[in-house]
Amino acid sequence: MRLLRRSWAGLLHQRHRLLTTTSSRRSNGEREKEKEQQQRQKWTHTGSRTERMLYAAFWAGGLTLGYHWLSHRSHLTQVLLEEQKEEQKEEQQEAVARLWHATLRPELPTYKADQVEQHNCPENRIWVTYGLGVYDVTDFADNHPGGDKILMAAGSAIDPFWAIYQQHNTLEVLELLEGFRIGNLEGPLVASVDDELGSPWAQEPPRHALLKPASKRPFNAEPPIGLLAEQFYTPNELFYVRNHLPVPVISPEDYELEIEGGGKEQTLSLERIKALPKHSVTAAIMCGGNRRSEMTKVKAVKGLSWGAGAVGNAKWSGARLCDLLRQQGVQPDEAKHVIFEGADLDPTSHPYGASIPLAKALDPRGDVILAYEMNDEPLSRDHGYPIRVIVPGTVGARNVKWLTRIVVADRESDSHWQQNDYKGFSPSTDWDTVDFGKSEAIQAMPVTSAICTPQAGSRVKVEQDEAKGEGEGHITVRGYAWSGGGRKIVRVDLTNDEGLSWHVAELEQEDSPDGRHYGWSLWTARLPVSQAQRRAGDVEIWAKAVDSAYNVQPEKFEHIWNLRGVLANAYHKVKVKIV
Ligand code: MTE
Repeated sequence: MRLLRRSWAGLLHQRHRLLTTTSSRRSNGEREKEKEQQQRQKWTHTGSRTERMLYAAFWAGGLTLGYHWLSHRSHLTQVLLEEQKEEQKEEQQEAVARLWHATLRPELPTYKADQVEQHNCPENRIWVTYGLGVYDVTDFADNHPGGDKILMAAGSAIDPFWAIYQQHNTLEVLELLEGFRIGNLEGPLVASVDDELGSPWAQEPPRHALLKPASKRPFNAEPPIGLLAEQFYTPNELFYVRNHLPVPVISPEDYELEIEGGGKEQTLSLERIKALPKHSVTAAIMCGGNRRSEMTKVKAVKGLSWGAGAVGNAKWSGARLCDLLRQQGVQPDEAKHVIFEGADLDPTSHPYGASIPLAKALDPRGDVILAYEMNDEPLSRDHGYPIRVIVPGTVGARNVKWLTRIVVADRESDSHWQQNDYKGFSPSTDWDTVDFGKSEAIQAMPVTSAICTPQAGSRVKVEQDEAKGEGEGHITVRGYAWSGGGRKIVRVDLTNDEGLSWHVAELEQEDSPDGRHYGWSLWTARLPVSQAQRRAGDVEIWAKAVDSAYNVQPEKFEHIWNLRGVLANAYHKVKVKIV
């Protein structure tokens, strides 16, 4: 390009020279000067030797680049084809694995159901059946990620449990199970769970097609990250869904909420809850496993592979829990807890449950509400119809849906999800050393942020900065930030040169006081892109948020890694291509 410009400059110069020669008479001195100038500029003249050499070099370089590009492209195609083949192979393997339990293995003995039943504890060995297979899982029981829940199926079929706990439905687990196969079952113990009639999943609500499932049964899904920061209030149908069990069917006429505390008990109908003073609060709800898919890249963690979309922001309306508890005579007590139970039951008929400290529930600034509306609409079934508790600033797991019971107690909830899940651990704790009893249940969430647009791997156009001159430009980056415990976001910093320079984003947030700032903050930043970055073709953008206590996100996942993949709040890093 520069060469072309030079040739044009040469031509114009010649033309100008011709014009000036014919239109004016020049002195000898002027001619001498012109000769001198010509001499100096000689190498730029069209057709000069230097220019011909530069042209040759230019074409040779172009040909080499073209050759490299073509050979690189064919290499890439090869890699893509191989990846595709690998994926197909895995899918085929998985399809075959899904049939193992439904296939008789003639080389193995056949057992009757009552023979299997006798193997129902470690002393007699633990046998289970799955479809037509009989399995001895005694040696695996201690390593079962769900702890002694495996014993619930000892001597019987695991089919109904796996229908609920669908995380078992992976190639890895199926392979593991088939490795424990010891025989075939004479006549299956249970009807196929694929038969929807009578299945616990037969009455699941319809869902928005844009929600990307992390698991279908139970239903767990998040919206596409690119849509998340578009609106301050997340549309109800795009709000992430986190269910541990099938969605219960509750009719508004039959709904009842039991409240036990202050030495009294009362039962409230939906009508009575709605007749209480209505209070609204803007609060983001975030799953404890949000962004787990990034943490698991450091080292595998157990749990649903959530992206950065297991969070949403809504206006919740309902009755204040502190009003109800005070009316009932509950007195402040730092040692007590409030236990919540949902209407969704596990296969042993235990409800989903969680608890929060009584101090939070009684504090009017805690804004805990029994919500019946989400963004001015009745709650949908997936989000807890007809009543759920909203515990602003607290991990999603404590915001119990389909609320049926509240108990003020001097202990935490004994539910699996309070005791053996949603807890953090040191990066050095593994499944051999973990002791859930020694770790605190997560309540207030740590500060976090995520880049929603541009998305990882996308091609981003640089916007030209006219005022700054040619080549100078920027990209626009947008995302969300949030901190638990009512702490307001005070700043979001972005960098695209690994922290050499930081750029402060503009915040869009509600004007609520610190300590009671429960909604998320959306932010927008203009990140300058240098000429060198444009030439390199790609940049990595990092985002970190700072809350009102000056807590800031940690830089790396390595130092906050934990075996359940919760509290994944390291800098959000997104690589994009610059065009
Ligand atoms: N409440 C009940 N009854 N059952 C559940 O499975 N999941 C919890 C919480 N409340 C759950 C529940 C978890 S882990 C989260 S993150 C939030 O609900 C998710 O709320 P959402 O589905 O409305 O987004």
